Amino acid sequence: MKPSTLFSTLLPLTSAYSIPKEDTTSNNAVKIPTARESAILARRILTLTPLGTISTIFPSTSSSRNPPGTEGKPHALMEYISACDPLYPSHPTLLSLNISSTFKNIASGSNLSLAITWTPPPLPPPSRSLLSHLNPFSHDIAPQPQFYSAVALPRYSLMGYLEPIPGADDPKSDAGKQVQGCYTAIHPDAKYWLPGNRIHESHFVRLVVTEIYWVGGFGDRAYIGWINASDWESVTKEEIERVRLPGEKPLEGKDL
Ligand SMILES: *[C@@H]1O[C@H](CO)[C@@H](O)[C@H](O)[C@H]1NC(C)=O
Ligand SMILES: *[C@@H]1O[C@H](CO)[C@@H](O)[C@H](O)[C@H]1NC(C)=O
Ligand SMILES: *[C@@H]1O[C@H](CO)[C@@H](O)[C@H](O)[C@H]1NC(C)=O
Repeated sequence: MKPSTLFSTLLPLTSAYSIPKEDTTSNNAVKIPTARESAILARRILTLTPLGTISTIFPSTSSSRNPPGTEGKPHALMEYISACDPLYPSHPTLLSLNISSTFKNIASGSNLSLAITWTPPPLPPPSRSLLSHLNPFSHDIAPQPQFYSAVALPRYSLMGYLEPIPGADDPKSDAGKQVQGCYTAIHPDAKYWLPGNRIHESHFVRLVVTEIYWVGGFGDRAYIGWINASDWESVTKEEIERVRLPGEKPLEGKDL
């Protein structure tokens, strides 16, 4: 690639990260998804991703709970997430444990954000015939590893506040059956700390999403920026089922 080509490729970037496009002269330029299209991708990621990182802030006043020096500092930890709320599938469903430092900070008045990262499914093992490596003239060579860059993959941050999901703590109610059935299908081990267990007090809550910051990947081919909360909420189940994320198998009979 000529240095001038590289320079013109790098100029329009909005991301701190990028790679040169494969072919800058072709006419089939990459179409950057809109914020609404990115909302659909983000909602699909929510339905397929069991873990996220919740950031909270330690209380600004000192207490016996935390050592001096932590006041007002950010606190980010991995938490189980899901999209199990039948009324609000766009609001992540969380199981809030009173003993957890994340939920203690929130109970003390902290704001929060939830970071979610798309992790593609693992690639299938390369299919090579058993004898191919014995034959130096075999054309059956190992496939080239795909170009991989974690910063090319979507990730985003949801801001909002928690509220209880009415009825969800009661396994006999309709809401309880739906929320708890869905949640334990994603997190089977969580059956030990469902609401009403004898060890830790816990409650099902929804994260009411008020702001969304999305980084779709490299800025010359992905949207980077804020997603409107009503766009986030209005994404339908059908829209979520019709899109595919990087590394997912393409939809049958559809050229993506
Ligand atoms: C546990 O947390 C919930 C939600 O923050 C709260 O309503 C409840 O009072 C807490 N329980 C105890 C024993 O502090
Ligand atoms: C939480 O965020 C809101 C909205 O920006 C702000 O008004 C409020 O002061 C924040 N709360 C805390 C405890 O920082
Ligand atoms: C989000 O979109 C809705 C509907 O199109 C619009 O009314 C609202 O002003 C938008 N909000 C922001 C923050 O742009």
